[in-house]
Amino acid sequence: MSTTSKSVVVDESTVVLGIETSCDETAASVVMGGSDVLSSIVSTSIEQHIPFGGVVPEIASRAHVELLTPVIALAIEESGVADTRIDAVAATVGPGLIGALLVGVATAKALALVWDVPFVGVNHLEAHLYAGLLEDPSLELPLVVLLVSGGHTMLVEMRGYGEYRLLGETIDDAAGEAFDKVARYLGLGYPGGPAIDREAQYGDPEAISFPRAIPDSPDFSFSGLKTAVMNHVRKHPDVVTADVAASFQMAVVDTLVAKARRAAREVGAKGLALGGGVAANSLLRERWLMACDEDGIRAFVPSRAMCTDNAAMIAAAGWHRLRSDGPTPLDAGAYPGLRLPLVREGTP
Ligand code: KG4
Ligand code: ZN
Repeated sequence: MSTTSKSVVVDESTVVLGIETSCDETAASVVMGGSDVLSSIVSTSIEQHIPFGGVVPEIASRAHVELLTPVIALAIEESGVADTRIDAVAATVGPGLIGALLVGVATAKALALVWDVPFVGVNHLEAHLYAGLLEDPSLELPLVVLLVSGGHTMLVEMRGYGEYRLLGETIDDAAGEAFDKVARYLGLGYPGGPAIDREAQYGDPEAISFPRAIPDSPDFSFSGLKTAVMNHVRKHPDVVTADVAASFQMAVVDTLVAKARRAAREVGAKGLALGGGVAANSLLRERWLMACDEDGIRAFVPSRAMCTDNAAMIAAAGWHRLRSDGPTPLDAGAYPGLRLPLVREGTP
């Protein structure tokens, strides 16, 4: 057996149930036509991970087992559509924590089999690219997307649905990882991004001049910045924490916006889109809108709920994948190290 028997015509009325369990969020969503979000439920086990200062894989998997079924039931109920109306079930197959991914993938396949509808395996990173467009589907290509999450920092040129070119990526820490590590060092807790965002509101972003790494490269590096923060605090133990947070945040945002802007200019992009958890950052959102306004290009800034992990973006990406590639075989697995199907700049 490779796929479910029922073939589906993918159009504006096609209803996809999306399931997301790659990390600590357990999410389900019903989306019609690839962009009409009928419901989106997100539950998280974050409280259980806080004492450990990071996500504990086994705790995340166990939480998914407990939460996923009620979250799916609620997503279907809130959508107002009968489960017999669901045309396909999409789930994140990677990247992510293997034990966490398996819960969502196994559940999605079982539902697809029982309902006799296609199963669609979704790349979590591709879904983050769609999140910015989900709320504003008036797409003009090419588009440059900055994907900034806990595990990734990438600048991607989107030439069409499913057509991505890698313009730059981090050579060490991801931006979210840098936020999390610096917050832990400053004693601001976990998750670090929102904690630094909050603390920075009370600080002076010009108080400390932290380095902007590899300014002439399209790639990113945040490891040296993290070390610079630690060295500064060691040398100046009385420094105001809010000033450190604000100056660090400014250095990260400056770098992200400058490189995205240059990339957009180089490829002649019509718009700049933000995606991933770090896209929830207040300063990044503000500077992004200002930069796009100054450069006369469209800004796609997802709502905060759409930046962090959710299943609406999985259902939307699933709708596009189903339309372009058809159903995913039911014997497909989960892939913790899955990458975007990218072409590096300079290659044909
Ligand atoms: O995309 P996401 O929810 O999960 C991954 O796929 O990684 O991103 C999580 C990351 C964490 O590193 C978190 O600290 C960061 O996004 N983050 C933020 C903010 N909210 C979440 N970083 C900066 N400012 C925020 N407001
Ligand atoms: Zn994510």
